[in-house]
Amino acid sequence: MGVALGVALVTGSSRGIGRAIAERLGADGLAVAVNYRADEAAADAVVAKIQAGGGKAVAMCADVTDDAALRGLFDRAEQEFGGLDVVVANVGIARFSPLAETTDELFDLVFRTNLRATFVALREAARRVRDGGRIVVISSGVVVTARATTGIYGAGKAAGDQLVRVLAKELGPRGITVNSVLPGAVRTEALAADGPPGVAEYSARQSPLGRIGEPGDIADIVGFLASDESRWVTGQTLHAGGGQF
Ligand SMILES: NC(=O)c1ccc[n+]([C@@H]2O[C@H](COP(=O)([O-])OP(=O)(O)OC[C@H]3O[C@@H](n4cnc5c(N)ncnc54)[C@H](OP(=O)(O)O)[C@@H]3O)[C@@H](O)[C@H]2O)c1
Repeated sequence: MGVALGVALVTGSSRGIGRAIAERLGADGLAVAVNYRADEAAADAVVAKIQAGGGKAVAMCADVTDDAALRGLFDRAEQEFGGLDVVVANVGIARFSPLAETTDELFDLVFRTNLRATFVALREAARRVRDGGRIVVISSGVVVTARATTGIYGAGKAAGDQLVRVLAKELGPRGITVNSVLPGAVRTEALAADGPPGVAEYSARQSPLGRIGEPGDIADIVGFLASDESRWVTGQTLHAGGGQF
């Protein structure tokens, strides 16, 4: 029989892909720590939706770019629910710029959020997730497509994928799987605000399925990776771009 997976922490789950993941894991019966940075009302709405479906969830404010706050988030999730079985490192910011025009400040901002916060989350997850647990990182398809202007964004994500592959080997003996998911363009506020012009139309044309991704497309993959059904999948970078790459 399967491993009982009881408690999940999803970073950045008040909106977008993280929100869909939190709602999916909550519907699957996991107690969910719903992390947000600023928008408390949005996080509360996610919690209310999970609770309305009969699930358990608590909103937890923490800026994951603050190492101590991120560690505190893990503390709170463990204290609230009595342990931790699934960690989804979802927070990431999209900033696109030709390399010749990329400033040191932009490099530091993107790497602080997309790589250092992922590293700290993976380190905390490695120390705390119970045997048989699941760790998932949300990476990006730009690691594969290497489109112009995605240099620093993709470099941070690629480095996170490397941590995933190594950690899968380190945690395998404890029955913990570690994987990353590489979405193509997904219809979120971040894509609308920060995506390159025309990215939605371009991505829909590139996909044999003829559309861009929806947050639920990614959440269903994470739901699988967080479940016992994925027990033989570890150290993988799953391409989730509707066949675009
Ligand atoms: N959308 C896409 O097309 C796409 C494609 C490939 C990969 N991805 C990756 O998917 C992940 C999610 O992207 P998304 O498009 O869903 O983003 P989003 O719509 O901007 O949502 C971001 C979420 O993260 C939270 N957040 C942001 N910065 C945070 C911080 N420093 N600490 C804690 N929470 C923070 C936000 O909460 P607040 O509102 O409270 O700040 C919000 O809940 C990212 O890693 C992104 O790189 C996205």
